[in-house]
This record gives sequence, C-alpha cells and structure tokens, in this order.
Amino acid sequence: MSDHTPPKDAFTLELRRIDNLLTVGQLPQAAQALNQAQARHPGDARIYLLGMRLAEMAGNGPGALVAAERAVNAAPQWTAGLMEAALMLMRQGRHADALPLAQRAMTIAPDDLKVVRRAVLVALKAGHAEAATAWLRKLVVLAPYERQFRDLFAKQLLANRDAAQSKAVYDKLLDEQPADAMALSGRIQAALALGDLPTAEADARALLAQDPANPQYQYWLALARGETPDSQPDALVQSLFDGFADRFDVTLWRQLEYRVPQLVADFLLKTHPDRRFNVLDLGCGTGLVGVCLGPLDGFIIGVDLSEAMIEKAAQHGVYARFHRVSVLDALRETPADHYEAITCCDVLVYVGDLSEVIPNALRILKPGGHFLFSCETAQEDEPDMVLRATGRYAHKASAVQRWCEQAGFENTQIDHLPKLRMEAGAPLPGFLVTARKAGAPD
Ligand SMILES: C[S@@+](CC[C@H](N)C(=O)[O-])C[C@H]1O[C@@H](n2cnc3c(N)ncnc32)[C@H](O)[C@@H]1O
Repeated sequence: MSDHTPPKDAFTLELRRIDNLLTVGQLPQAAQALNQAQARHPGDARIYLLGMRLAEMAGNGPGALVAAERAVNAAPQWTAGLMEAALMLMRQGRHADALPLAQRAMTIAPDDLKVVRRAVLVALKAGHAEAATAWLRKLVVLAPYERQFRDLFAKQLLANRDAAQSKAVYDKLLDEQPADAMALSGRIQAALALGDLPTAEADARALLAQDPANPQYQYWLALARGETPDSQPDALVQSLFDGFADRFDVTLWRQLEYRVPQLVADFLLKTHPDRRFNVLDLGCGTGLVGVCLGPLDGFIIGVDLSEAMIEKAAQHGVYARFHRVSVLDALRETPADHYEAITCCDVLVYVGDLSEVIPNALRILKPGGHFLFSCETAQEDEPDMVLRATGRYAHKASAVQRWCEQAGFENTQIDHLPKLRMEAGAPLPGFLVTARKAGAPD
C-alpha cells in the first residue's frame, strides 16, 4: 500500500461517510467524494454500488443500471451487492432482470436472513410464485418468531390455491395468539376457499367482537353464512390492488390477454374521430383505457380506490386528474350532463350491485353520451348477480340489459366476449355493454 492509499478500514469509513451524504441528500458532495474514492480504489464494487444509489437519487436510471452491472461484475459473490442491485432493478420495474440476481444471492447464502428477506420481496414483486413460495418457506424456518413472515407465507400458499396448507399455518398462529386479527383474517379466507364455513363464521364473529362496525369483517361473516353481500368492501379492493399495481400491466395485458380497454378505446375513437370528448374512467387502475385512447382534445378523469394503481396511471401523463374515491361516491358526487363517455372496465366485478351505478351513469352523461362497461358472465339460469369463489361478481347479460333499459338508456348493446381474459389457464367469458343516453351530442 502506498503512502497515499488509506488503510482499508479508513477507506471503509470514507465509504460510510459517502453513504451518509447520500442519505441526507447531499448529492454533489457525495459525487465528488465518490470520484476521489474511485481514483484511489478503482474497481471496488462498493464504490459502484454507491454510484448506483447516487445515479438513482439523481433520477439517472440508465446510469444506475450501468453502475449496478459494474458492481455485480466486480464482486459476483457479494450478496449484499447482488440484492441491492436486484432491488434497484425492481424499482425500475425490471422484474425479469432482478430475479436472477436474487436467485444467485440465494444460492450463495441460502441461510442469510437478510438475503432471504430481500429475495422474498423480489420474488413477490416479480409475481414469481414458485420462488416466492420456496423462499418464504425458508424465511419462516429462519425467523419463526416473525409472525408477519408466517402470515405472508400463508397468503402465498392461498394464492397458489393451497388453502389447506395455508389454513394449517394460520391454525398454528392462532394456537399461539387466539385473538390475533391478522391471523383470524387470513384463516377466514383460507377456510372460505376450503368451504369450511363454520370456521370462517366463528373467526368472523371473533373479529366482529373486536371491531363490530368493520365492513370487511361483516362481509366475511355474510360469505360464511352463504349470503351474497352487495359489494366488496373498499378496504379489500384497495389492499388487493395496492399489492398488485407493479405487476398489473404485465399480468393482465401480456399473460392474461386482457384487451377490454382497447375495445372501449376503439369504439370511442370511432364515435368521436375528432377526439373531442371528455371521459370519466371509473376504476381506472394503471390507466390502460387512457393509454389506448391516447391524447384527446378533452380530458380524462381517473377514479380509483387504489393509490398505487393511480400512481401507475399518472406516469402516462394522459389523465388530467385523479380522484381516490369509490365508483359509487364518484358517481353520486358528479353533477348531471357532464361527460361524453364513462368507461368502467373490469371494475363492476368488484362493485357487484349495479342498482345505483347504472342510473347515476345515465344522469351524469351528456345527451348522446355512452357508458361502456364490462362484466363477467353469469349464466342465464343463475341469479342476476352471483358472487364467484374468486371473490368477483358475475352478472347476467339479460339482467344488465333490463337494468339499462329501466334506467332510461335509449340503446343498450351487449357484445359477448368468449375471452374477457384468461383465468387459471382457460378463457373467462364476459361481455361488454355500450349503453347510449338519448339525445343528440352537442
Ligand atoms: C381489474 S382493475 C381494471 C383497471 C382498468 N379499468 C383496466 O381495465 O385496466 C380494477 C380496478 O378497479 C378498482 N376498483 C375496484 N372496485 C372499485 C370501487 N368500488 N371504486 C373505485 N375503484 C375500484 C381497483 O382498485 C382496480 O384498480
């Protein structure tokens, strides 16, 4: 080591100082210190990793990618570096690139709690069920005292349709703490999936004893008693989609071949070739309707319960405004004769009861305006509205047609879609409703 080279521990302290500069947001100072460190210890993976952080904080995504690649190449066995790089890739939405790094770190250090925790996060965000399940299984062995990990594991088992194992995990959690609301909530869902209604009912009652007005607990009690509640509680929808936002577009559009937003946009652009119209997009999600429509000589307003979905939609820059409220609240609070079009794609499957939705949509449309919405199909020999085991509502096309006519829509067209999207490897049938309000457009 030359006189000018600091001893290793002093250098480590210097790197820690740079890390602190980044933490407090002093980016120019951190950049200068990093350049000096780089000149002294070229090729040190820790410098590249700090460079990755700096680039990311400065909004330089491509720079962060280059720095991450250098860090990983410089120290391919350094698990902290691999996992930091993987998490940065996740933040950039590059799930497919992040997963192999997590896999490599897991091969190197399968019993390192920090590595396993982060790898689980990557697998869950990437929607890789097999890796998530395997690594969660490992995590609960490494940290059996962490009840949240066991809850996550049980949730993953349920998502894999292994309700029996999921329930077994919750049984143990509840043996240890019988009043734990998290475990009671989880066991209800596993029990409902298994058709074990007595367990679901007992657990729902235990939760209601703790919080009698909780709409989610009331909903579960109704399900456990074989009833069909009017709609899914807002909190359930919100937590479902907040956890799904990162993967929604890839899952729905690429894997499940979901195309309803495109059909809706095609209809509206054909009806308004000059692109001069305003749209209320109910349950806008990640903004696929807005993306398919493209820029308009008018505005698109997005409504959704999920903050995370709205954040994704906002990134497209197509929506003029968002409201984080329920479909029903948005419809009730909008003045009459306001929009040329209302869209509601794959949303009423969560809303269920349409008795307020359809008349209010009619009220706030301008004369000649269109309400376009999709439904999952209930068969004609089923009730008008059915709650499926998936937790989503299906509607009967003839009932929807009747409700639109009764509300006063002038013309209601129903297009049957043999494949609304894929579901568990098979096409899920549905239909698209185009209901027109009477009168000539302005
Ligand atoms: C399956 S996604 C569809 C998103 C978008 N419409 C599309 O076609 O890509 C359903 C969306 O509806 C939202 N949602 C469900 N029920 C809702 C309600 N009652 N009020 C507001 N948003 C709701 C969810 O948060 C989610 O973003």
